[in-house]
Amino acid sequence: MEKTLVLVKPDGVQRGLIGEIISRFENRGLKLIGLKLMHVTEELAGQHYNEHTERPFFPSLVNFITSGPIIAMAWEGENAIGIVRQTMGTTNPVEASPGTIRGDLAINIGRNVVHGSDGPESAERELNLFFTSGEILDYSRSTDSWITES
Ligand code: RTP
Ligand code: MG
Repeated sequence: MEKTLVLVKPDGVQRGLIGEIISRFENRGLKLIGLKLMHVTEELAGQHYNEHTERPFFPSLVNFITSGPIIAMAWEGENAIGIVRQTMGTTNPVEASPGTIRGDLAINIGRNVVHGSDGPESAERELNLFFTSGEILDYSRSTDSWITES
């Protein structure tokens, strides 16, 4: 089953949106398999956003993600990576559809409240940056067969 990393960014934590964001993914049917409240160091920020190192917004991105505590989560489910991205909405909240997290809860690209891995390789890489293997749990729910057929 596919696994992906989700972060509630510092703006989401400060604005009291942790429960709301978790509920969106829980209600969708995804399974929470890892969770922590933590500070992102500059080193971890650089590793996490290494694809953006040369972008003009990189310094402010690192400043922002290290500016306060975040929630790191691992979610599992059929097509979890795409389902999370769709549930979050587009990167720029101005263009995000109503009904998505960013479309409902944000108005600015630099304060877009959540992160989700954008593909299978980044999901594996990012989960390994934020979690040790012992922190990702393997368990079943009695509702699993009501969410995914077979
Ligand atoms: P994320 O990584 O946070 O899930 O968002 P994403 O894949 O939709 O967007 P990505 O291209 O990976 O960009 C990472 C974060 O950088 C900020 N950004 N600012 N000012 C800009 O043009 C700009 N472009 C991107 C956003 O906060 C974005 O979430
Ligand atoms: Mg990204």
